[in-house]
Amino acid sequence: MTTTGSKYDELIRPDRIHGSLYTDPEIFADEMAKIFYSTWVYVGHESEIAEVNDYVVKPFGPQTVIMSRAKDGSIHLLQNRCAHRANLVCEAPKGNATGFRCQYHGWTYANNGDLLGFPYKKGYEGIADKSKLGLGRVPRVESYQGFVFGCFNPDAPPLLEHLGDAAKEIDRLVRLSPNGKIQLTAGWLKHKVKANWKMLLENETDGYHPQFVHSSVFVSAESGIGALYSDTADAVSRDLGNGHTENDLRPEFRRLGNVMGWFGTTPDKVPNYIAKMREVHGDKTEEILIEGSPHLMVFPNLFIAEIQIFVIQPVAVDETVQHVTAIQLDGGEEMNRRLLQQTIGSVGPAGFLLADDSEMYERNQRGVQARDPEWLVINRGANRERVDENGKLIGYNTDEVPIRAIWRHYKSLMEK
Ligand code: FES
Ligand code: FE
Repeated sequence: MTTTGSKYDELIRPDRIHGSLYTDPEIFADEMAKIFYSTWVYVGHESEIAEVNDYVVKPFGPQTVIMSRAKDGSIHLLQNRCAHRANLVCEAPKGNATGFRCQYHGWTYANNGDLLGFPYKKGYEGIADKSKLGLGRVPRVESYQGFVFGCFNPDAPPLLEHLGDAAKEIDRLVRLSPNGKIQLTAGWLKHKVKANWKMLLENETDGYHPQFVHSSVFVSAESGIGALYSDTADAVSRDLGNGHTENDLRPEFRRLGNVMGWFGTTPDKVPNYIAKMREVHGDKTEEILIEGSPHLMVFPNLFIAEIQIFVIQPVAVDETVQHVTAIQLDGGEEMNRRLLQQTIGSVGPAGFLLADDSEMYERNQRGVQARDPEWLVINRGANRERVDENGKLIGYNTDEVPIRAIWRHYKSLMEK
């Protein structure tokens, strides 16, 4: 390969991308600096720290942070790193505590990150400024509809601006809960794959693979959901801007009159939930149910798959951890149990969906390590992309509109 323009201009073309983007450790380090430590990154959900002094340890790029709720109710994202000699200050995945004590030499911190004290004070007399020795913080913390994001970059736009049109899709999700709030409290499944994190990022809104990779699930699904990913479905793929992408399945659900297609069931199976929705939304209930939940990838690490949440954690250039949970609605126990069962059945340890995708990620990773040819082709549907009524680029659901959108945004960040 000859190099004339910028490095990323050479590697990312409108119709193809270079294999080294998935294998080069220097590019991975560059991504952590220019993406994970420069843009808004999803961390956790407010429902996970509902009470004062609750905390959870969460991935943030390759590291972990403590997401805590201090006694005044404020949410903090603290670096899980002792200010003394960098030991992890919190081991438990979650809990309720007013502070943390480092196991190495016993320094203690409040759950807002302030240093409370250290043993054997005399050795520090006159030489330690406690106000400068708190836990490191993710300096910017903002949330939208309960989804908490962090950002290390003081110059990044506000979260809402970063989310742009993806925010409206998140609104669709929370509207499905009669009280307008979702919960992510069902517990997290963690799944490690030997593949680059961008394989997952690209795959989440890739509407070309499901008919092939997930055919075994579609045969047994009660909703006929596989048809959404055929080349004749009315569903569309969309570039929402800022690297956010979606498969918009609504046109197909409307065509089929499939009111709860997003959940793969019918209203008669969840009568209590429907009754609760009617109490709040009256005649609008059916419209809200048809609108359903999004199939939305929020760049770079949050994937809302209708009834599940996936979080992508890059660990190394060829290693990624996927964190998965079921969304819980304020729709009664019957509804939440079904949401959980559906999640366990599709992406739990014995589920097909996640296992089948993961196998593809690892096969892809082995493929990109081959010497020749060096390029991956991403031009499917470039001949029929069009602009929708809101000015967004769309294509058939099987077209690679989202993949190209992701790479365009990626390139804009990496060239900075
Ligand atoms: Fe934490 Fe020494 S490293 S107290
Ligand atoms: Fe898949």
